Amino acid sequence: MIKAIHTHKPSLVAMVHGETSTGQMQPLAEIGKACRDLDILLVVDAVATIGGTPVETDAWHLDAVMGGTQKCLSVPSGMAPLTYNSRVEQKLMSRKTVERGLRDATSARAEGRTIASNYFDLSQLQDYWSSARLNHHTEATSMLYGLHEGLRILLQEGLEARFQRHLANERALVAGIQGMGLQLYGDMSSKLPVVTCITIPEGIDGESVRSMLLNDFSIEIASSFGPLKGQIWRIGTMGFSCQRKNVLHVLGALEAVLLRHRHVLPAGEAVQAALDVYAGKEGALC
Ligand SMILES: Cc1ncc(COP(=O)(O)O)c(C=O)c1O
Repeated sequence: MIKAIHTHKPSLVAMVHGETSTGQMQPLAEIGKACRDLDILLVVDAVATIGGTPVETDAWHLDAVMGGTQKCLSVPSGMAPLTYNSRVEQKLMSRKTVERGLRDATSARAEGRTIASNYFDLSQLQDYWSSARLNHHTEATSMLYGLHEGLRILLQEGLEARFQRHLANERALVAGIQGMGLQLYGDMSSKLPVVTCITIPEGIDGESVRSMLLNDFSIEIASSFGPLKGQIWRIGTMGFSCQRKNVLHVLGALEAVLLRHRHVLPAGEAVQAALDVYAGKEGALC
């Protein structure tokens, strides 16, 4: 990635911090430094990571970061908290395509000027947030209350404790999956702590396993899409759902369902491996 940035020197790099589709995490500290050294703007999707694993916006030189409420913050979906710095603000203010105060998309288009959609136009939002208070949209107040409550719970737990809880449950889940003899998918050195990907064993119908987990155990695990369709399962351990009882429950259920699908595995090992992790120092964090 950094090599490509040096080769192409784009004006902006946009990337995903935690790739939920593959269970991988990008090394943003290094990428951020490379971008800042070349004066490139770095825009990051931290939808899956915010509230579950550190997102060091300033220390990693991230210029803009977007989050989501529905994953590790465990707040109903519908909002995208975002932050950006003065470098982004300068860029926004210098590329305005619609006159300030004149929001006539039709005439702008007629003149051949491009405009962003109302929802994605940050320069319009700047006018809403600034002293101009120019109406942009009507806030969904109940969502703001939801976010406030989610963040209150997060701060009550403490950010560091929350990150450690996600790591400890991930470790227990990984130990259980390996104890069952299943293969984890992806590079473990850059694994995303809040999503664990498993290679579907040869000869097993992944969708049939998912259906049985859902219908008989009320547990939903994800499949994947694109080239990974039918190749992997994905288990999320995010926010409120990231709990010892859920990890133990999913391991026990997955083992039972796989046995039902005539997959040969060392019965009983998975939950014991996870319990071993919980019995250690990290267990106290969950
Ligand atoms: C990394 C990442 N970015 C963005 C999204 C999209 O979020 P939303 O569904 O809120 O548009 C998702 C959702 O799965 C995601 O995992």
